[in-house]
Amino acid sequence: MIEAVERLIKNRFLSFEDFVNIKNCGKEETEYLFSKSREQAREYYGNKIFVRGLIEFTNHCKNDCFYCGIRASNRSLNRYRLSEEEIIECCKNGYSLGFRTFVLQGGEDGYYGDDDYVRIIKRIKSDYPDCALTLSIGERSRESYEKYFGAGADRYLLRHETADEEHYKRLHPKRMSFENRMRCIRDLKEIGYQTGVGFMVGSPFQTDESIYKDLCFIKETSPEMVGIGPFIPHKDTPFAEYARGGCELTLKLLAIIRLMLPSVLLPATTALGTIDPMGREKGILAGANVVMPNLSPVMHRKDYALYDNKICTGEEAAECRFCLSRRIESIGYEIVTDRGDYKSP
Ligand code: 5AD
Ligand code: FES
Repeated sequence: MIEAVERLIKNRFLSFEDFVNIKNCGKEETEYLFSKSREQAREYYGNKIFVRGLIEFTNHCKNDCFYCGIRASNRSLNRYRLSEEEIIECCKNGYSLGFRTFVLQGGEDGYYGDDDYVRIIKRIKSDYPDCALTLSIGERSRESYEKYFGAGADRYLLRHETADEEHYKRLHPKRMSFENRMRCIRDLKEIGYQTGVGFMVGSPFQTDESIYKDLCFIKETSPEMVGIGPFIPHKDTPFAEYARGGCELTLKLLAIIRLMLPSVLLPATTALGTIDPMGREKGILAGANVVMPNLSPVMHRKDYALYDNKICTGEEAAECRFCLSRRIESIGYEIVTDRGDYKSP
């Protein structure tokens, strides 16, 4: 098994057999894997952890993904939208807490048109010129992506969700298309965004083969960021009764991705912190180098539940900021006030 890790480091890639070897390996080998992935992250980023302030600005969504708590068919949540002023207020609060990246994340909400996004992006970039702005607002046309980029957006997160088309069809209703998602990711890269892809670990119907396809897709695409976290069921979705993804497998995948793409920006996600009280710390010790606490107003937090039992829905931004500092320092790392741009390998 140790040889599988050595091959992964040497080739910056792994065979299906080596993936399965690593997936099934025991404690000792897992520790070896994590020591290598951790070392790899330190080579580029030292003991620095980047923070991104997440602003969940709308939970309206026209899509109906089977796994997601804010899917259009879910009638048992309060829908909300932040006004432009409220969004700016979140940035202001975040800036004073040391955030230099803001992530605007929302459902696919038809209420905001391109002109609204362009105005908001320009405003944030002119009020906070030393900050990076990340968008995470789903599938749009190439022209829209170009407009947002032109207005100053730096980065875009659009998880591919699964690189296996048949699997994609089992996670999404018919009217959503794998092909369009792939088109979006291609466009984002071509336009020049620092682009993030990603997937859920342990989503229903996921197999070793489909995970391996995710790894191949990630390697080929060579994104600047990769967001992965465990699937966690949400009670008001068709997947309510499915099992959640595993912590151990998520950590191994973080480590594999770190070793495949040595300088990639890799968050220890809130979902990972939700299934294990030490999940984010473990993620960092497996090679993650980003955390994304929430800057959204506390009154709306519970209504942005993509999955059940999401952590940090009752804490103010400042509380999470200091809680995370403490947690990260306790494992020998530190949060930095920095845009935290991607470093080319
Ligand atoms: N469990 C874990 N992650 C989820 N996401 C959506 N629903 C869930 C869930 N039930 C993830 C998706 C999406 C990102 C914003 O959150 O991968 O891209
Ligand atoms: Fe939110 Fe700890 S990070 S309470």
